[in-house]
Amino acid sequence: MTIEWYPGHMGKAHKQISELIRAVHVIIEVLDARLPVSSSNHLLEELRGNKPCIKVMNKNDLADPAVTKAWVRAFEKQTGVRALPLSAKQPREVNQLTRLCLRLAPTRGKPGRLLRAMVVGIPNVGKSTLINTLAGKCIAKVGDKPAITTCTQQIDLRNGIVLSDTPGLLWPDMSDQAAAYRLATSGAIGAGALDYTNVGLFAAEFMLQHYREPLRSRYNLTDVSESPADVLEQIGRRLGCLVPGGGIDLHRAAEAFLRELRAGKLGRVSFEEPGQDDGAAADAGVHG
Ligand code: G4P
Repeated sequence: MTIEWYPGHMGKAHKQISELIRAVHVIIEVLDARLPVSSSNHLLEELRGNKPCIKVMNKNDLADPAVTKAWVRAFEKQTGVRALPLSAKQPREVNQLTRLCLRLAPTRGKPGRLLRAMVVGIPNVGKSTLINTLAGKCIAKVGDKPAITTCTQQIDLRNGIVLSDTPGLLWPDMSDQAAAYRLATSGAIGAGALDYTNVGLFAAEFMLQHYREPLRSRYNLTDVSESPADVLEQIGRRLGCLVPGGGIDLHRAAEAFLRELRAGKLGRVSFEEPGQDDGAAADAGVHG
């Protein structure tokens, strides 16, 4: 089944971001560390021109550390790009971002020569969380639905940096269905656009191929089947997702499995790696 999902007002967002980018010194692109290519927007490469860009690999607490390291190496081969894995909820980790911004624009960050930065990214990658942690208070709404504001305010972070209070909203490339399924698995796509059973099957297949042991141990599976449908059934049975008569409610099983996977209950998992053979990494100009 094809996943289709477009957050609202995208044409307007594109125009707004290209205007805002012109006025900033550093772009802070927020990605999901578990799927840093699928959670990116390829147009940003075009829009940013020569502006320094920090790829914040957020939700690093959920991503596979070895894969994240490989992504950092791959991203930093790109001109003007630095990659920084962090958790936007952790002020200490977010402080590294401030320091990196100031290093990338060394003539800025002084009284009268403030460094202007802007946070951009697709929905649900943690832009609002990051802005709130940077500002040390709640400014942007977390978990809020994507929206465009007509008047963007500047927040003075009082460390030489000013930031727009509204993140620039980009959108993922949903024409790549493998990427769409990875996004759906990660929780980035609105629940209304999803068929949970299909996404659960995709996730079960992925876990079978890449993280079989965590899958086996989380659900205490004595015999791990090679079939994603069987695995989802086994998980449904373990989690008590039953229909009257004792059959498995696959939809509920998929929902519960995805909830656990997204919450890190199966350990730290990354859904894509540099150099993997489905075009995602190549599209981003990244070669592992
Ligand atoms: P957005 O502005 O890019 O749309 O994203 P937002 O900050 O609203 O964050 C989307 C979800 O991701 C939120 O969860 C938020 O708590 C979570 N999140 C953000 N940063 C991190 C991180 O570094 N690690 C983890 N594990 N999660 C992160 P939510 O369930 O929608 O809201 P809430 O229940 O947490 O408030």
